[in-house]
Amino acid sequence: MDSSPGVLILCSLLCSVSGQAPVVSVEPRAATVRQGESASFRCQVGSGAPPVQLLWKRANNQALPDNAKIGPDGSVLTVAKARPENHGQYRCMASNSAGRSTAMAVLNVKYAPKVRLTRAGPLHVRMGESVSVDCRASGRPRPTTTWKRQGSTLQLVTKEANDVNTIQWPAVHPDDSGVYICQAENSEGVAEVKIDIIVEGQPGAPVASVGATEMTVVEGHTITMSCQASGSPLPVITWSKLRAPLPWKHTVSGGVLTLNGVGRQDSGQYICNATNMHGYSEAYTQMEVESPPYATSLPDQVRLQPGDALSLQCLAHGSHPIQFEWSRGGRVSLPPGAETTNDGRLRKAHVKLSDAGTYKCVATNHIGSSEVLARVIIKA
Ligand SMILES: *[C@@H]1O[C@H](CO)[C@@H](O)[C@H](O)[C@H]1NC(C)=O
Repeated sequence: MDSSPGVLILCSLLCSVSGQAPVVSVEPRAATVRQGESASFRCQVGSGAPPVQLLWKRANNQALPDNAKIGPDGSVLTVAKARPENHGQYRCMASNSAGRSTAMAVLNVKYAPKVRLTRAGPLHVRMGESVSVDCRASGRPRPTTTWKRQGSTLQLVTKEANDVNTIQWPAVHPDDSGVYICQAENSEGVAEVKIDIIVEGQPGAPVASVGATEMTVVEGHTITMSCQASGSPLPVITWSKLRAPLPWKHTVSGGVLTLNGVGRQDSGQYICNATNMHGYSEAYTQMEVESPPYATSLPDQVRLQPGDALSLQCLAHGSHPIQFEWSRGGRVSLPPGAETTNDGRLRKAHVKLSDAGTYKCVATNHIGSSEVLARVIIKA
């Protein structure tokens, strides 16, 4: 196939002694079938010194699918009852003692669309909440997907990306209750899938929402949590804490909960409850209180004799992770032979008189740090 001068020279040298490398082509080069139909490709050897061996493979050297058969002389590849995954390139490789060459064939397998939803119905949604449903379609040629409401021919406005068509409501209304159909269509057929959406809560029922569903705050600060509710008549808002009473230093006004000087024990889930004659609606804020470390040393004073083992443990409470660092008062470094660990331990197997002094542990987390001193007294 290649007629560049280099190949011609190579052939004129080699062809006379060991014959000529095969030249192959595939007929047809491309075939398009429907799913379930069959396709055949013939690999033809134009020239080349016999014997020529033929080998069919999928492109990138994968094995042939189990529904592919090769004819008795090795030249005809038949894909019987083609499946969608048979789509792609096939390669015929011809080789003899002089070399080898390959030719490609492309099989297109068309198939009717398949559709599925990423969530199962029926979907019960409270009025005012947001909902979205993804419809995923496959098929060849690539199907077009649309969302419709049962009983209507109107195509709904949806968001399409890749093979996913998403229908969404930022806030559902009772009128949105109904059966929705995602339909996928290509030249091979049509497929559809339905989902029932049931909007709960009657007109006027409360719908509560909080300003933040999650918050992380630092110990000692004053924080506020807001809650808003729609409904008619205007709902009454109350705040509570999951499995615990509200902290005693709290106030509620106009739906806003204020907590003064929060502590770690105030972490947890806070519930806003909006109530009127038609029902109630709850919304949640998860709050985590973080605190700087508070370090202690165990022991904070120790009396040893030369040769004794020294072991000090620095402890800290506060938000994790906490790092510990030991140092020695008035010195650049710890005595030689002293070891520290990530969990705050300082050790030395055999102390000397010169190891006496004051040691300092600094515990640090992402909020702050705290230090503690330990006295080491050594007497012979
Ligand atoms: C919210 O209020 C309703 C009605 O008063 C009540 O049944 C429900 O238990 C309350 N929820 C919480 C978390 O207090």
